[in-house]
Amino acid sequence: MARYYDQFNRFVPYKEESAFIKWAIDKYKKSSGRELLDVCCGTGSYLVYLREHFHVQGIDISKEMIGEAKKKLPGVKLGIGSMAAFRLPEKFDAILCRGAMDYNFSYKEVDRTIANFVRHLKPGGVLLFTFEDAKDNFLGGTNIRLATGSGYKIVEISTLREGKEVSYWTPIYFVQAKNKLEMIPDPQKQGLFEVAKVKRIMEKHRLKSVVYSGLSSKKLWSIKVRKHPTYVGVLKW
Ligand SMILES: C[S@@+](CC[C@H](N)C(=O)[O-])C[C@H]1O[C@@H](n2cnc3c(N)ncnc32)[C@H](O)[C@@H]1O
Repeated sequence: MARYYDQFNRFVPYKEESAFIKWAIDKYKKSSGRELLDVCCGTGSYLVYLREHFHVQGIDISKEMIGEAKKKLPGVKLGIGSMAAFRLPEKFDAILCRGAMDYNFSYKEVDRTIANFVRHLKPGGVLLFTFEDAKDNFLGGTNIRLATGSGYKIVEISTLREGKEVSYWTPIYFVQAKNKLEMIPDPQKQGLFEVAKVKRIMEKHRLKSVVYSGLSSKKLWSIKVRKHPTYVGVLKW
C-alpha cells in the first residue's frame, strides 16, 4: 500500500506535528548539534519540515517507502534498515520514530529497539517515539475511511481488538482505479504496552523520560485522554 500511504495520511497534520517535535527536541536536548535521524521514516513526510531546522537522515525497512521518500527529499541520506538492528557510523542529537514502534510485539522487542536507538544517540540527545495506543486505556472497534484522488477511490474498513502485548488491526481496502475494483486485505498486529513499563525500559537505557498526549499538544499523557502516547527521552549526559 506504499503507493497510497500518503493519500490515507493526508489528514495527519505533519507540519503541525513537526513543529511539536522541534519544540520537544529543543526543550530537552542537552547535546549541542543538530543531527536528526528519523527511524521508520516512511515516505519522509516529517523530514520535509524537520530539514528546515536539522541536518536530517532517514531509515526505513521498506524499499518502496524509501523510494517514495527519495522523490520528496532529494539530497537527503535515506537508507534501508530495521529499527532494532540498523547500524550507522554516526551518533545523533535527536532520533524520531513515529508510528512504527507498534511493530515491536513484546516488551523484549521494545527493549532491543530502544537499546539500538540509544546506541546511535549522543549523550544529552533526545529520543522521541510514539505508540498508536496504550494498554492502559485501549479501546477496540470498527472504523471506515475514504480517500479519493484523481483517478482513484479507496475505502478502508478496519477492526481493532486487544491481545496480549499486541492489538490486531485488520483493514480491508477496496481500491477503485482505472475502472477496476480491487479488494486488498492488509491485517496487522501492533504492539500494545503499558506506559509505566515502557518508561521503565527507557530508564534502564539511561533515558530520562516524559510522556505527552498525542503529537501536537504540550499536555502530558493521561489515562483519561485517549490520545496516543508520545515518549520523549533524554540520554544521560
Ligand atoms: C505507519 S508508517 C509511519 C511512517 C512515518 N514515520 C510517518 O509517520 O509518516 C510505519 C513505517 O515503519 C516502517 N517499518 C515497519 N517495521 C519496521 C522495522 N522493523 N524497521 C524499520 N522500519 C519499519 C514501515 O515500512 C513504514 O514505513
